Amino acid sequence: MMDENYLKEIARQALDDSIIYYGDFPVGTVAAKDPSVEALNYDQCFIRDFIPCALVFLIDGNTEIVRHFLIQTLKLQIKERQLDFLEPGRGLMPASFKVTSNNEEQYLKADFGDHAIGRVTPVDSCLWWLFLLRAYVLATDEYSFAHTPECQKGIRLILELCLSARFDMYPTLLVPDGACMIDRRMGINGHPLEIQALFYTALRAAKELLLDNQENANINQAVSNRLEPLIYHIRQHYWLDLERLNTIYRYKSEEYGEQALNLFNIYSDSIPYAQLSEWLPEDGGYLAGNLGPSQLDCRFFSLGNLVAILSSLTTEKQSQAIMNVIESRWEDLIGYMPMKICFPALRDRDWQVLTGCDPKNRPWSYHNGGNWPVLLWLLTAAALKTGREAIAYKAIEIATRYLPKDEWAEYYDGKNGRLIGREARKYQTWTIAGFLLATELVDRRNLLNLIIFN
Ligand code: GLC
Repeated sequence: MMDENYLKEIARQALDDSIIYYGDFPVGTVAAKDPSVEALNYDQCFIRDFIPCALVFLIDGNTEIVRHFLIQTLKLQIKERQLDFLEPGRGLMPASFKVTSNNEEQYLKADFGDHAIGRVTPVDSCLWWLFLLRAYVLATDEYSFAHTPECQKGIRLILELCLSARFDMYPTLLVPDGACMIDRRMGINGHPLEIQALFYTALRAAKELLLDNQENANINQAVSNRLEPLIYHIRQHYWLDLERLNTIYRYKSEEYGEQALNLFNIYSDSIPYAQLSEWLPEDGGYLAGNLGPSQLDCRFFSLGNLVAILSSLTTEKQSQAIMNVIESRWEDLIGYMPMKICFPALRDRDWQVLTGCDPKNRPWSYHNGGNWPVLLWLLTAAALKTGREAIAYKAIEIATRYLPKDEWAEYYDGKNGRLIGREARKYQTWTIAGFLLATELVDRRNLLNLIIFN
């Protein structure tokens, strides 16, 4: 194995090579710099992909690129209500952007999902943006930046988009399929965990960053009103452990009115009891992937569970239980590369119906049960926050063994994550940044404060 310092040097060089410039300023990083594959849209800067990169830049004291990124993406945010309803909604931020030019004049061309494969809506972008704005302010102490009228307006627009009137009975966010890191059809429409965990994080960030003034009064109130019901809803109704499993197993259905216990009318037969009763460790539990009318998606989605730990959306006990699951089900969730994006994979008829027969998402590949090294930083951060250092060290050790020799692959395939993803890019920027960030987090524990909420 390579010497750690040398490895970090190589990774930092690769990260620097991915930087894109707008005029004279660094403004983001491309998604991948794989010389062997056609770029498609991997030459764009994706908001979600830039997050681990930005955190590395911040902890290296390279704050300029993060500031420019925040400013430019804020400029791209949709500010006006569109009357023809053919444009993205007000407050939305793009999935990605690239620097283009017209008659020698450079400009940023954004993709709000209007170019993306499947025309998926990037709901997570504006939530990640708020998370990053807070990290930037904490790292630089430059509160005045978040307090500029532009930033305050941007935050208000994001919150208006998330909190405004809607056709829904839940405190969670209702979104279409593919609205987050899993940006292809995967049966995650409705109230997917990843979006809810990011939504909660964004609300917490907004509460810290919004000024207490007349202009923000309504929105500040709306944020406060939403936080408690949201936390209760997730902790109570998304939680799955043996006790909950027993309760749901014996649920009565078709209950009407205020006394109903089975609020969402979950039918027992829809829950994979046989597998779960064997798979769940005695002291383990996790947040389900989705919840809706007669729907409880029991797949384990890593990003949502880890972000829930970091933002303290889960209780301390629940966070420990999630880490217990990761530790006890190491082979399933980590295997040869930390870590699986979701478990288990959709198979057979489920795969046909829920992915629309997507060949890229066939079982144990890509989003459908593939392993994504970018998740290493979230796993490491969650392990450190919960005092489970051993998990962080073990995960980093595995990643160190494979990532450099596999040239920083985007994702891995197979039940145990042993194969480099069939269509995986090499030199995937967030793989590189995720690795660097994880190693920095274990070395400098105070950095965790940029990421977590107590
Ligand atoms: C894929 C991933 C998405 C990521 C993008 C760029 O579309 O699903 O999450 O942002 O690639 O890396």
